Amino acid sequence: MEKMVIEGGYPLHGRVRINGAKNAALPIMAACLLTKGTSKLKGIPDLTDVKTLCNILNELGVDTVKCPDGSLEITVKEEKNITAPYDLVRTMRASICVLGPLLGKRGMAKVSIPGGCSIGSRPIDIHIKGIESLGAQVDVKDGYVIATGEKLKGSVVDLGGPYGSTVLGTCNVMMAAVLGEGRTVLENAACEPEVQDLANFLNKAGADISAIGEKNIIIEGVDELNGIEYEIIPDRIEAGTFMIAGAITGGSIVLENDISCHLTSVVNKLREMGVEIQVSAGKEEFNGVKNGECTVKSDGNIKPANITTLPYPGMPTDMQAQFTALLSIANGTSIITERVFPHRFMHVAELNRMGANIRNEDAIAIIKGVPSLSGTTVMASDLRASASLIVAGLVAKGITEIRRLYHIDRGYEKLEDRLTSLGAKIWREKE
Ligand code: EPU
Repeated sequence: MEKMVIEGGYPLHGRVRINGAKNAALPIMAACLLTKGTSKLKGIPDLTDVKTLCNILNELGVDTVKCPDGSLEITVKEEKNITAPYDLVRTMRASICVLGPLLGKRGMAKVSIPGGCSIGSRPIDIHIKGIESLGAQVDVKDGYVIATGEKLKGSVVDLGGPYGSTVLGTCNVMMAAVLGEGRTVLENAACEPEVQDLANFLNKAGADISAIGEKNIIIEGVDELNGIEYEIIPDRIEAGTFMIAGAITGGSIVLENDISCHLTSVVNKLREMGVEIQVSAGKEEFNGVKNGECTVKSDGNIKPANITTLPYPGMPTDMQAQFTALLSIANGTSIITERVFPHRFMHVAELNRMGANIRNEDAIAIIKGVPSLSGTTVMASDLRASASLIVAGLVAKGITEIRRLYHIDRGYEKLEDRLTSLGAKIWREKE
């Protein structure tokens, strides 16, 4: 096993390119199950979660070929198998996103139910209710969800839940409905840019989806979808993580390939905290939205702020841990309220071991800013918690060692190399 070692105290300077979004890439890869012919996906990041989904797709009769230009070619070769087994699904909860396309194309799906994880319980009741509304029969047996339905029927499907909309639930029901009969309306659908990217991919492949990015998405069933070439949107959470790394170190960095309108809540909050952010529109278009450059400058003096995570366009829960790290060195007290995953605070105890003063009660963290953090050995509990410990390590005095590093490789490609190119002192060592 490897650990990440960081010598803190070096402000970041320079340019970094943002990769394609993991949380758009995964459902779009799964959506290829619905298509005939080959799809060429550009901007797929090199991550363990992507490899895990490739393994699942291979098991399901799909060829996945990494091309020299970095793109991923996906071709459905045979459609007999409908089972995504526990051993593959257990390492990545997003594997559930093969449920909708398998059912929609093959008329049956048997997918291991993802367990809970350190960010809280991960129920799939809304996914199940959604595909049932389309006429599928669903059994939950021996740890598997088994769905059958030869020709799904368009319907009005309510995807609202106790914590708002569901991202992968919306993706699953959308993918199940595109080849169904007639019109489906997804009410209380998730509006996240990654869900929009999936809908745009499906439309380019031949689907008929409208009101993309709105609360009520309309899908007219079509007979078939074809393989296409498609470029994944830049990863807004990776961009936000680099913004915080720049801000916490009192640095000045430029993000390339950034779609800042996907990050408005993050940019506004950082500006409120005294971080200077300038956004310029670029040339490349992602379904009418331009990417561009974003300059982030900070003198390291961070003002306190209150943050509530919410579904898009609110503050992303996937940025909460990184903001917790940043606010731990702010000049005053901040409050973070987690409204998407109320128990997502495993990073708090580790940040406190680095000298932070954070109290977590239920879904709230009260953060009293301290003048500085100090390096020590800490444990990563999930992907975004790892990112928060890394940004904390960049500013902490002395050496920080982060164990259980495999979490970071699930969602950030070559993070230490890219931080090193910005002037950080960060490297991997064998544990
Ligand atoms: N929920 C239910 N029932 C369901 C589904 C969800 O009650 O059937 C609840 C969840 O427990 C949670 C809330 O609804 O409280 C939102 O969960 P959601 O379904 O939106 O999460 P997800 O689709 O499983 C995706 C991302 C997560 C991100 C969340 C929220 C992917 C692969 N994962 O998960 O990303 O935190 O949306 O934005 O897209 C990450 O990248 O580190 C990550 C965890």
